[in-house]
Amino acid sequence: MDRLETVRAFVFQAYASIQDDALRHLAIAHAAECAAIAALLADRYGENEELAYICGLCHDYYRFAYNGVKEHAQKGALLIRKKLAESGHFKEAEITMIETGIRHHSEKTKRHDRFSQIIKCADALSQSMQEGSTEDLTKLIAFYLP
Ligand SMILES: [Fe+2]
Ligand SMILES: [Fe+2]
Repeated sequence: MDRLETVRAFVFQAYASIQDDALRHLAIAHAAECAAIAALLADRYGENEELAYICGLCHDYYRFAYNGVKEHAQKGALLIRKKLAESGHFKEAEITMIETGIRHHSEKTKRHDRFSQIIKCADALSQSMQEGSTEDLTKLIAFYLP
């Protein structure tokens, strides 16, 4: 199993065991959407697509796998750092990048590094899609990635 498959496996296995149907569906769809959107944005803005995909996939891990919304960005960042390090598939700099993206993702009005902004933007776009919002997606992208 390559590293992308390893991460996909632990995230989707955890989400597949969520009891509540609506929450399970949301967790899986939101993770898949954020991963795909983050990879597309990373390609467009010159960041690492694979790391963006993984970060998008994992950004709400604490929220869904532990059903903990409060401070899920900070708690999830530490948890994912540990999991990625244990996997032995990632360099320290890669782990730090993913950890940073997860840590910042809830702070939507603050500006952070571009990788973090990509994760926030992917999160917002996915949320907007889930809500069936008619908000202009181009405007959302311009807000996070001016
Ligand atoms: Fe979140
Ligand atoms: Fe999210």
